[in-house]
Amino acid sequence: MSGMKTDLKLIDENGKRIDGRGFDELRPIKIEAGVLERADGSAYIEWGGNKIIAAVYGPREVYPKHMQDPSKAVLRARYNMAAFSVDERKKPGPDRRSIELSMVISNALSSVVFLEQFPRTAIDVFIEVLQADAGTRIAGLTAASVALADAGIPMKDLIVGCAAGKVENTIVLDLNKEEDNFGQADLPVAIIPRTKDVVLFQMDGDMTQEEIDKAMDMAINAAMKIYDLQKDALKRKYFSIVQEDEQ
Ligand code: CDP
Repeated sequence: MSGMKTDLKLIDENGKRIDGRGFDELRPIKIEAGVLERADGSAYIEWGGNKIIAAVYGPREVYPKHMQDPSKAVLRARYNMAAFSVDERKKPGPDRRSIELSMVISNALSSVVFLEQFPRTAIDVFIEVLQADAGTRIAGLTAASVALADAGIPMKDLIVGCAAGKVENTIVLDLNKEEDNFGQADLPVAIIPRTKDVVLFQMDGDMTQEEIDKAMDMAINAAMKIYDLQKDALKRKYFSIVQEDEQ
């Protein structure tokens, strides 16, 4: 979010955004559950130009041992961007941004998993961004919760999110890369759909309280639609297993 002045027009005279969307339109989203053989649970998401894999391992033994918690499982999410996922090659390995995103994603997921059922274990969640196009933390988190469910890990509910933001003084849903780079604000939000508890909330840029409220409403409404896609992905996976068993 540079807020930089640019000649690039992000919204045209007909109110269309540069990718042709209206203000409160999502980019196309596809979710698939159970895409990796060796993980306990996995999911793949395509969200606009984002392509992200989430893999879950556990509950399993904790290494290093001193990280064990005798009262509950530790859930460790690691968000990673592949070197080829962005325009300029990203230096491999964790940087400040990915460490922060890993932390906020771990916290969000920990709020729905029944960690106390698995004391002294680790639940590891790997989020690998293969192609990035803005909104990867939310897309990664959305895929990760499907991967946890696919692993059969007991959870209160899935986690789902969406971002909204401000572009040319207009509140818009689900910013793409250009809007994220040259817009005025980006506000990623994630919720527990059943209770609407907010489990991730961040803001980059400036918005008034009124604008934040509007952006939150838009993001939460969209998140509820994405929740249906998550459930469909899980149903498709388990329906195909039942069909295989019946053959
Ligand atoms: O991806 P998200 O919107 O959650 O996080 P961000 O920090 O706001 O990054 C926005 C976008 O900038 C990413 O999705 C990438 O497309 C891009 N980016 C990049 O090109 N190089 C980086 N090292 C980090 C982000």
